[in-house]
Amino acid sequence: MTFDLNGAPVTVTAMPGMPLIHALRGALDHKGTRLGCGSGDCGACTVTLDGVPVTSCDLPLSAVAGRQVGTVEGVLAARHPLVDALISHQAGQCGYCLPGILTRAAALIDQGQTADQIRHALDANLCRCGAQTRIMAAIASVTA
Ligand code: FES
Ligand code: FES
Repeated sequence: MTFDLNGAPVTVTAMPGMPLIHALRGALDHKGTRLGCGSGDCGACTVTLDGVPVTSCDLPLSAVAGRQVGTVEGVLAARHPLVDALISHQAGQCGYCLPGILTRAAALIDQGQTADQIRHALDANLCRCGAQTRIMAAIASVTA
């Protein structure tokens, strides 16, 4: 299976039904994407597919062939403004949810969504630590 990962082509040899997250964290050694529920419910495993946030625990490799996948490593490498905003707002606690939140929010910021639209979209990303107020303040600081 060949696809684009954070701007570079990669090839993975695996069963087509393998969830993308296992290829990312395994053969591709991109361990920033977190596995939470494994059933599409918590958002910890959020990546982008052709720029659109999706969960990767329930996305088969076959669905990404020839397409563009973005992970938190790509967001960090590009030094998206939200990265510094999250740091300056001390928005992470345990941090487990943050790669998924950062990946989703950065994509939506790049689409020009408002902080309020992003707040609703982040219903798809569960955070058990209660830092959502700081996360939202960080997002608001980099949205128009
Ligand atoms: S691990 Fe994918 S949605 Fe929870
Ligand atoms: S910061 Fe711990 S789950 Fe969100």
